[in-house]
Amino acid sequence: MSDITPRVFSGVQPTGNLHLGNYLGAIRKFVALQESHDCIYCVVDLHSITAQLVHEDLPGQTRSITAAFLAAGIDPKRHIVFNQSRVSAHAELAWIFNCVARIGWMNRMTQFKDKAGKDRENASLGLLAYPSLMAADILAYRATHVPVGDDQKQHLELTRDIAAKFNNDFAQKIAEAGLSTPIPMGEGQTVEGYFPMTEPLIEGPATRVMSLKDGSKKMSKSDPSDLSRINLTDDADAIARKVKKAKTDPDALPSEVAGLAGRPEADNLVGIFAALAERSKAEVLTDFGGRAFSEFKPALADLAVQVLSPITGEMRRLLDDPGHIDAVLKDGGERAGAIAAKTMADVKQIVGFLG
Ligand code: TYM
Repeated sequence: MSDITPRVFSGVQPTGNLHLGNYLGAIRKFVALQESHDCIYCVVDLHSITAQLVHEDLPGQTRSITAAFLAAGIDPKRHIVFNQSRVSAHAELAWIFNCVARIGWMNRMTQFKDKAGKDRENASLGLLAYPSLMAADILAYRATHVPVGDDQKQHLELTRDIAAKFNNDFAQKIAEAGLSTPIPMGEGQTVEGYFPMTEPLIEGPATRVMSLKDGSKKMSKSDPSDLSRINLTDDADAIARKVKKAKTDPDALPSEVAGLAGRPEADNLVGIFAALAERSKAEVLTDFGGRAFSEFKPALADLAVQVLSPITGEMRRLLDDPGHIDAVLKDGGERAGAIAAKTMADVKQIVGFLG
């Protein structure tokens, strides 16, 4: 028997500036889950070289994401914060998963299609195998819950497919090694296996924060227009300017959520307000229904500054002491490595690798 304990894992890439979407869709949930679960939060530097190989300042980007985790309230003593490349199990397990997963599965990933664009032949092999490394991140810790934004949903479905195929293909070997355990499959069903069926945690009003310039595009680190996003490093003036310039329509805000249908920009700004205020969209519209954007936008900017400025200030303070950040990552890497080493030893035994 090899019991699976409830555990949270999630990761953020050290590419570009962290924005409000990353905060509301992911990092704020990371903070909340610390009360109920053992959590492992990872700066996924191995993933960051899949789309762009050479970065101007990868160490600085890694420290900056770590500072954002800590400034938002993640406690690296009670939980684990580290950067992915420190723990070699991620790359080792990803290799095995590359042999479990099928090329067809990878070709169907919408993020691969988006990132590779028209010239797929010229994308790195790493970009194609990206979801297999992501499955390895999660399953190296046999994590049961993964908080993410909506854009990661398909990758998490693939993680479950990889776990299920591994459990199925190696069923006999897992049993022979004495490593079989009941895996909950939903609706009270269980099967015997080694890896859990990880559950995505994608909920709340901000699972998909959209661009401030185009309500049909997601807010993204890679959008060439800085006006499209609120960065965690923006000061109060920048936030106010970006909210003021955010695209809207000419109508006043509706009084009910149904009135947001067909108004993507209005829906997005109300969703952002709701998430920042930790209220529902309906409650926000009770207060602002019938009011013009010229009244709503300053209230939204004030709220964003109120929520983000303590985090921005603390990030700056932490980044003044890179030695402390590096010590956090080193300690986290050692503790993560110890958990992942046990999984790798099991997996090597199951697959039949000596040593
Ligand atoms: P990344 O670095 O692109 O984004 C980090 C987190 O932010 C969420 N997110 C958003 N949420 C709401 N609205 C948005 N506009 C928005 N943009 C980004 C993402 O969903 C994510 O939760 N592949 C992952 C990193 C990763 C990972 C993992 C995540 C690697 N291994 C294992 C979970 C588990 C990524 O590129 O996230």
